[in-house]
Amino acid sequence: MDKILIRGTRPLEGRVRISGAKNAALPIIAACLLSPGEHCLQGIPRLRDIQTIRNIMTGMGTAFRETDDGLVVDTSNLCEYEAPYDLVRTMRASILLLGPLLARLGRARISLPGGCAIGARPVNLHLKALVAMGADMHLDRGYIHAQAERLQGAQVFFDIPTVTGTENIMMAAVRAHGRTVLKNAAREPEVCDLADMLRTMGARIEGDGTDTITVEGVQELAPARHDVIPDRIEAGTFMIATAMTGGDVHIEGSRPEHLSAVIEKLQTAGAKLEPEENGIHIRGPEIPLAVDIQTMPFPGFPTDLQAQFMAFMSVARGSSIIKETVFENRFIHVSELKRMGADIEIDGHQALVRGRDHLLSAPVMATDLRASASLILAGLVAEGGITEVRRIYHLDRGYEALEKKFQRLGADIWREKA
Ligand code: EPZ
Repeated sequence: MDKILIRGTRPLEGRVRISGAKNAALPIIAACLLSPGEHCLQGIPRLRDIQTIRNIMTGMGTAFRETDDGLVVDTSNLCEYEAPYDLVRTMRASILLLGPLLARLGRARISLPGGCAIGARPVNLHLKALVAMGADMHLDRGYIHAQAERLQGAQVFFDIPTVTGTENIMMAAVRAHGRTVLKNAAREPEVCDLADMLRTMGARIEGDGTDTITVEGVQELAPARHDVIPDRIEAGTFMIATAMTGGDVHIEGSRPEHLSAVIEKLQTAGAKLEPEENGIHIRGPEIPLAVDIQTMPFPGFPTDLQAQFMAFMSVARGSSIIKETVFENRFIHVSELKRMGADIEIDGHQALVRGRDHLLSAPVMATDLRASASLILAGLVAEGGITEVRRIYHLDRGYEALEKKFQRLGADIWREKA
């Protein structure tokens, strides 16, 4: 298992290019199941999670090949409809295969994704909506067994604006018979990017980006060509890292409109941010000011940047309150940050962070994808030696060569075999 080592307190300076969005690429790759033929996708990031969904779809008969023009996904010979436990347990987002398989083959057998470090992660809203669309569904020995001659359009109301739930039902609906209306739908940019890709295939979708999405089912779809949007969570991670280190960085490929809540909080903390031709220019403050945040579905402050922002507030002037409203257990990074000297008190779903002048380097353990990013950011501002972040496979699920990107910005950071 690899580990990443950081010798702290250097301001980040220069330019960094943001990779394609993991949480757009995953549903978009799954959507290639909806139509036989060769799909061509640009901007697919090189991540463990992408490799996982490729392995699952390869087992179903899908062929992948990298070309100069992008990732070619050929689903002409789709012959299997099972996503096995030993792969699904490493990536919950495998549930995104359920809707497209039902739409294309009328059958699916998906291992029920377990929970993960940040929460139980149920998929009841996905299943309830597919039953409303006419699917026969039952759970047996840890697998979801689903069948549908042809899915029927339906009125679907999500009790919670679930991101992958919205994406799964949108994909199930594009070839259903009739109209499907998704109410209280998720509004994330990744949902809109999937809708854009489905429209290039001939799908009829309106309202993505709002809380009501309408899909008119069509008989056939054609293969897609699509360029995936940049990863707003990676971009936000670099923005926070620049603000923490008092740096000066051009974040190329980031889209300000995907990060307005984060930009507003960083400006309140004293950072200067200006949109520019192809991204955002950020300069960190001499001394950052404490800012309260509350995570919310888009367009609110993203839960996937909460851990990184907490690392930032650990070295701000004053105290901040961080409320996590999306997941029930997303403070696992707190105990590791406290080992680096952070002053944080948890009270239920909120944490009180009292800013310190600096953190202290220490050996720490990554526990989930975004927690590992927060520990790396803490290492960038830790004094007294080298911070060692272990179990870095969590990080490789969602960040493409993160330490190399930080090296190019002047950080003293490297990877070693543990
Ligand atoms: C997506 O997860 C993202 N993953 C997550 O990113 C992100 O944190 C999350 O959305 C929230 O923005 C992908 O897109 C692959 P949800 P998802 O369904 O869809 C509850 C990362 O770090 N819920 O929007 O699984 C659920 O428990 C990952 O990149 C149900 O109760 O999240 C949670 O409390 C982490 N029943 C809330 O809704 C359901 O059927 C929001 O979950 C579905 C969800």
